[in-house]
Amino acid sequence: MGMLPRSPGALLDKRALGACNHLLRRARHFHRSYMERALVEIEALKPEIVLCTGDISSVGSPEELRAGCDLLEPLRRAFGERFAYVPGNHDAYVTATPCRRALEEAFDRLNSGRWRLDALPVEWSFGGLRLLLVDGARPMSWFSSAGALSPSARAWLAARLEAPRQPGECRVVVSHFPLREADGRPLVRRRRLDGAELLWGHLRGARLDLVLSGHIHRPFARWEADGRGEVCAGSLTLHGAFSVVDWLPGQGRFRQFFVSVARPREPLLPVLDASLAPVS
Ligand SMILES: [Fe+2]
Repeated sequence: MGMLPRSPGALLDKRALGACNHLLRRARHFHRSYMERALVEIEALKPEIVLCTGDISSVGSPEELRAGCDLLEPLRRAFGERFAYVPGNHDAYVTATPCRRALEEAFDRLNSGRWRLDALPVEWSFGGLRLLLVDGARPMSWFSSAGALSPSARAWLAARLEAPRQPGECRVVVSHFPLREADGRPLVRRRRLDGAELLWGHLRGARLDLVLSGHIHRPFARWEADGRGEVCAGSLTLHGAFSVVDWLPGQGRFRQFFVSVARPREPLLPVLDASLAPVS
């Protein structure tokens, strides 16, 4: 959102660096109008569920998080419990108690009070989709944009992904952090999710079907040969695009495309039609 933190304490922690970085480098590329156009497009598409993969703020200050929630409120109101949010590293920027409390409030508000932030990962079943909502965002050192899965989160995910599937079950992880870059390389250490390799192993092993993420500003979709993959929604307010994924349960496959609101009515990327290999 790029609002300057009001707390004097912000001058003494990472928020000072983040606010300067935002104002000097990012603010001129931030388009609030993209978000407003996206709201109209998303409602017109009538999706069954809507996911926000985090970074609704720049430095995780209470005023920024509240403003981010306000911006998303039309979607939250329209979709209610069919709208879900997982935090990004910018939303969990510092350890300051007011910031942490504001993040918990934002999480509660955007998820319509269904879950507590400290209870993540959680499971959300919708039709044949089994969505695993993950929180890897936590305050890091001044020059790190990394995240980490806690030991208990890793154990929780392993137990669910290693269990036999229900008939027709499609497994989707919703995480702020992608597992890999657009070209399949691991992210650099200061940007990656510690624990991503665990999920990567499950994706390659066909125990996980799709990872939906954000974090990297430029959107991408990468599909493996078996039709499993990951989709990074990118930064809507920078690149003006959001991702649409269709799960076609009868055909066992995904269809995915990006919608551009920077250039309305023009697809950002060609439609990708990914077939999911039958689960053995
Ligand atoms: Fe991020």
